[in-house]
Amino acid sequence: MDRLLRAKYAVSVVLTMAAFSAGAQADELQARANALFKPIPAQPPALPGNQATAARVALGKALYFDRRLSKSQQISCNSCHDVGTGGADQQRTSIGHNWQRGPRNSPTTFNAAYNFVQFWDGRAKDLAEQAGGPMQNPLEMANTPDAVVATLKSIPDYLPRFKAAFPGTADPITLDNATSAIAVFEATLVTPNAPFDKYLRGDANALTHEQKEGLRTFMDKGCIACHRGVNIGGEMYAKFGLIKAPGSDIRPAADKGRFAISKSSGDEFVYKVPTLRNITLTAPYFHSGQVRDLGEAVKIMGEAQLGQKLSDTDVNNIVLFLGSLTGAQPKVDYPVLPPSGPDTPAPPYP
Ligand code: HEC
Ligand code: HEC
Repeated sequence: MDRLLRAKYAVSVVLTMAAFSAGAQADELQARANALFKPIPAQPPALPGNQATAARVALGKALYFDRRLSKSQQISCNSCHDVGTGGADQQRTSIGHNWQRGPRNSPTTFNAAYNFVQFWDGRAKDLAEQAGGPMQNPLEMANTPDAVVATLKSIPDYLPRFKAAFPGTADPITLDNATSAIAVFEATLVTPNAPFDKYLRGDANALTHEQKEGLRTFMDKGCIACHRGVNIGGEMYAKFGLIKAPGSDIRPAADKGRFAISKSSGDEFVYKVPTLRNITLTAPYFHSGQVRDLGEAVKIMGEAQLGQKLSDTDVNNIVLFLGSLTGAQPKVDYPVLPPSGPDTPAPPYP
């Protein structure tokens, strides 16, 4: 071999080795990610004891959009969990009955079926139990179970819809059946095929170089201690401020999280770890809704949960990685709701 050829050969060997090792590193990153996260399955999750028949899902969808479930007849589930804005409402904290501000930010209903419990403090065990809460919350829909059932019974076309959704029951219009139907509809609000899901399924090009660096940082820094699984969260509780308490603007002293439920002192400021799916669509962040900028939220997490000041590059890459968690948004055509009957209460007028 002459010198030139030999040099060319050496270069090509080095290049091949570099390409091989980049490939091996990518495989290693994908393998690590697959051990921690799961793609959203193609089929919506099944809810135990609550069959997702077409009739039940359609009924749940109508109820999700029906403002007559609220005392004012102005507020539906979709008011605060808008299917057009990532299943959330873009408010710091939600506005409910009589323009009252509630104390917390509205979490997304998208992929909520995959959360191990519902609400920031986990006070509802599943979607059906959860759905009864807002109808009766004085700051949200401000209604009573009896009034909800009476209103539903007064709307003539709801009876055949409930019958079809819950066949074989003599008196199918109950609050339990309404919340079960809403739950099966909510379980259809999943967002599969995010770039990150494609990456987990083996498409190495589904993430950009920066997103892969962001994923690596997300894993190496320890975000995965809490944010993992199919929802990149939603699997456990953790204290907000595990290492360092965030400012009282971001973690207001009055809201003690799970402590209010369990009364155990170890649960002060403990919240359900939220999902990070579609996080770019659901600002503002945290249960207080005090942070609008995702990079700022990531920085706060670094300090509060890990005791680390993340560099700007790390923050930027993590934010880009989090962008890869936005999946196909559910296509929900607005339901035509059954018209009110003669006995349906008129909307209250002050
Ligand atoms: C006035 C605004 C408002 C209305 C109306 C409303 N919600 Fe919510 N929703 C919220 C807020 C705020 C929270 C968080 C409350 C908390 O954790 O204490 C929440 C929590 C939830 C959660 C828990 C998600 C999670 O990850 O923990 C689900 C599911 C949900 N709502 C579904 C519904 C359904 C179904 C309806 C209609 C029956 C409804 N919401 C009506 C504001 C609202
Ligand atoms: C020890 C557990 C833990 C670790 C580690 C952790 N988080 Fe969190 N994360 C939480 C909890 C709990 C919340 C909810 C805090 C609240 O609002 O009360 C949260 C909230 C968030 C939110 C806001 C979500 C929303 O919907 O408002 C983002 C974004 C986030 N985390 C990203 C990260 C990143 C990035 C890292 C790593 C730098 C990280 N987290 C590390 C537990 C953790």
